[in-house]
Amino acid sequence: MTTTADSLIPATDITDNQTVAVTVEGKNILICKANGDYYAVDNQCTHQRAELTNGRIRNCYLACPLHGVRFDLRTGMPKGELTRVPLKTYPVSVAEDGNLHLELD
Ligand code: FES
Repeated sequence: MTTTADSLIPATDITDNQTVAVTVEGKNILICKANGDYYAVDNQCTHQRAELTNGRIRNCYLACPLHGVRFDLRTGMPKGELTRVPLKTYPVSVAEDGNLHLELD
């Protein structure tokens, strides 16, 4: 089942290499912007469950603030040896009203 969260946040509220944490239907989701595109991932590292809110974005990779695993925002895949479990990713788009819309499974 796909659920669409309408009117998440205005797309203009997030700048390149910035993250914004939102709660959608009880899920802690991190909205990210990298290279002009928007991404949405679970806001919990797959290594030791740290929140990724303050992770730095570089070249479409989000770094976990705790131990530094980098996740590809496009696929959720981690780089490095600490975890091989990908982050869950969600489709996010900019609607005609200028707000970000998120699709949950
Ligand atoms: S908790 Fe994220 S890398 Fe360890």
